[in-house]
Amino acid sequence: MSINPKIALITGGSRGLGRNTALHLARRGVDVIVTYQTSEAAAQAVVEECLAVGRKAVGRKAVALHYDANHIAGIDEFAAVVQQALATTWNTDQFDFLVNNAGAHAPAPFGEITEADFDRLSNVHFKSVVFLTQKLLPLLRDGGRIVNVSTSMTRHANAGSAAYASMKGAIEVLTRFMAVELGPRGISVNAIAPGPVATDFFGGAVRDIPQVQEFVTANTALGRTGVPDDIGPFIASLLSDDSRWLSGQRLEISGGIFL
Ligand SMILES: NC(=O)c1ccc[n+]([C@@H]2O[C@H](COP(=O)([O-])OP(=O)(O)OC[C@H]3O[C@@H](n4cnc5c(N)ncnc54)[C@H](OP(=O)(O)O)[C@@H]3O)[C@@H](O)[C@H]2O)c1
Repeated sequence: MSINPKIALITGGSRGLGRNTALHLARRGVDVIVTYQTSEAAAQAVVEECLAVGRKAVGRKAVALHYDANHIAGIDEFAAVVQQALATTWNTDQFDFLVNNAGAHAPAPFGEITEADFDRLSNVHFKSVVFLTQKLLPLLRDGGRIVNVSTSMTRHANAGSAAYASMKGAIEVLTRFMAVELGPRGISVNAIAPGPVATDFFGGAVRDIPQVQEFVTANTALGRTGVPDDIGPFIASLLSDDSRWLSGQRLEISGGIFL
């Protein structure tokens, strides 16, 4: 039994990679706050699953909170809600790990990117990561960790993802600056760059469309598409003591796509 468990906040924890990360952290004895934008029931189910996998650990806790990464003006209010949840559920004003994971993507050829699409992608994948992290800094414990979720497409270019991948490129640069500026507090900051993974993302294309699966498989050294279990345990390992000397890095986790 851990008297003072570590607490992780995972944006976009209701589905896909965020959900998988939450479950693997719970298995390792970490309490979680998962956020959702639209999938409240799915987020509550993740909370129940986290409580179930951690059941042997007395006092295991998990909560789900609403967060919209496209609503930058709402970030102050969300930070206050996080503070309240920490006080109410854990009797603390600090948490340990922030996983900036929430995201969505609707591909568009470069010539057809609209300003509205661009602004939404910028808000969800870049601007919100800057300001959410900034507003949560007073609540993040010294010695804490931040993981920013990028994409392998910052290294290889696939048509239709120019704006999306550019925003992810921005958070990789941001990751290095955050690592330098937060290092004096003992906070490490790393970016992970997954290859294609079978989730709801991208309209579920990697999971549901055979031609996409064949394309990814043919161009991946390990010869298959990714699954959430390829990613969640890796993020959990980045938040373990084993990874304590890692900071400012981009870690691609793609089975070796487009090598
Ligand atoms: N899957 C891939 O192939 C892949 C590859 C590389 C990188 N990534 C990155 O990995 C991250 C997670 O992707 P995924 O595959 O897990 O996607 P997913 O299965 O579609 O899940 C997306 C999650 O993000 C949340 N979300 C979406 N838009 C949001 C918004 N505006 N505000 C707040 N939360 C929002 C969703 O909440 P609701 O459930 O409430 O809608 C959900 O929890 C994303 O940043 C994505 O760019 C994914």
